[in-house]
Amino acid sequence: MAIIKTENLTKKFRDLVAVDNVSMEIADGECFGLLGPNGAGKTSLIRMITAISPVTAGQVWVDGQDLARHSRRVKALLGVVPQTENLDPDLTVLQNLLTFARYFEIPRKEAMRRSLEALRLFQLEEKRGSRIKALSGGMKRRLLIARGLINQPKILILDEPTVGLDPQSRHLLWQKLRELKAQGITQLLCTQNMEEAALLCDRVAIMHLGKIVVVDVPHNLILKYVGEKLWEIEPSSPAEREQIIRELKNHHVEFEEVGLAIRAFHVDNDELAHKLLVRPRQGTLEDVFFRLTSESLVE
Ligand SMILES: Nc1ncnc2c1ncn2[C@@H]1O[C@H](COP(=O)(O)OP(=O)(O)OP(=O)(O)O)[C@@H](O)[C@H]1O
Ligand SMILES: [Mg+2]
Repeated sequence: MAIIKTENLTKKFRDLVAVDNVSMEIADGECFGLLGPNGAGKTSLIRMITAISPVTAGQVWVDGQDLARHSRRVKALLGVVPQTENLDPDLTVLQNLLTFARYFEIPRKEAMRRSLEALRLFQLEEKRGSRIKALSGGMKRRLLIARGLINQPKILILDEPTVGLDPQSRHLLWQKLRELKAQGITQLLCTQNMEEAALLCDRVAIMHLGKIVVVDVPHNLILKYVGEKLWEIEPSSPAEREQIIRELKNHHVEFEEVGLAIRAFHVDNDELAHKLLVRPRQGTLEDVFFRLTSESLVE
């Protein structure tokens, strides 16, 4: 069953269509990745689903409830980690969590218990009495994630949560997200980190120019768009480049020119590899991302 469903969801800022008729479904309990270049519309989409920004057109249902009519009820189900930090600078670390808990009417004693647990989990215990401006960038981000868990949400929505985290904190978060998934918590994870998406997400959507271009299991996307194996070829002269391209065309190998390099997809011809002196490497989600969103990079 879909726990999040959107139908023809659209967000406009004056003439700019940031989210363009997006219809999608996220299944109960899955970790759903949202990928896309800067400006693709990911945050705008998330802000509508989390009832932070008004919908221009279309509809959203969360756990069967129409967001337009039950935004308060929906908000109680969601844990949200926004892309931009919005902690209260006038409060301490602990007060930030306790105040947030009050929005959800969590009894004070329970709020304290959860806050301390969250601080311990994200290794912020020593900073509990510090003001926000005394935190490092990564600490603020950890606190933002801790805050998103305070209401023990049924659905967790994270907009680029690992940006600026050191490797240790990043792995800590990945582990926590896996645990939450094992507990049945649905996750919508927006990320620019392809390794993270491939590691954590059951399915990923690639968004480009306001639209969702594809949705599938990461491995299926790799098989479909770039192949299990590909070649990265760097010709040493224009003549060699021409010759390589001729060979690829003759053998009906799909390829793209990426700057000075040539990237050939779905390769399985060992003889040709030998002739061109190339060794295959594994296709990745990043290769898929480039293939499906490259026009914007050329512009
Ligand atoms: N409040 C706003 N007012 C006007 N335009 C906006 C506003 N918020 C976003 N936009 C525009 O909407 C488009 C989508 O922006 P959005 O923040 O949703 O992209 P994104 O995919 O989250 O990008 P990033 O990876 O950089 O976070 C961009 O062209 C952006 O300039
Ligand atoms: Mg964004």
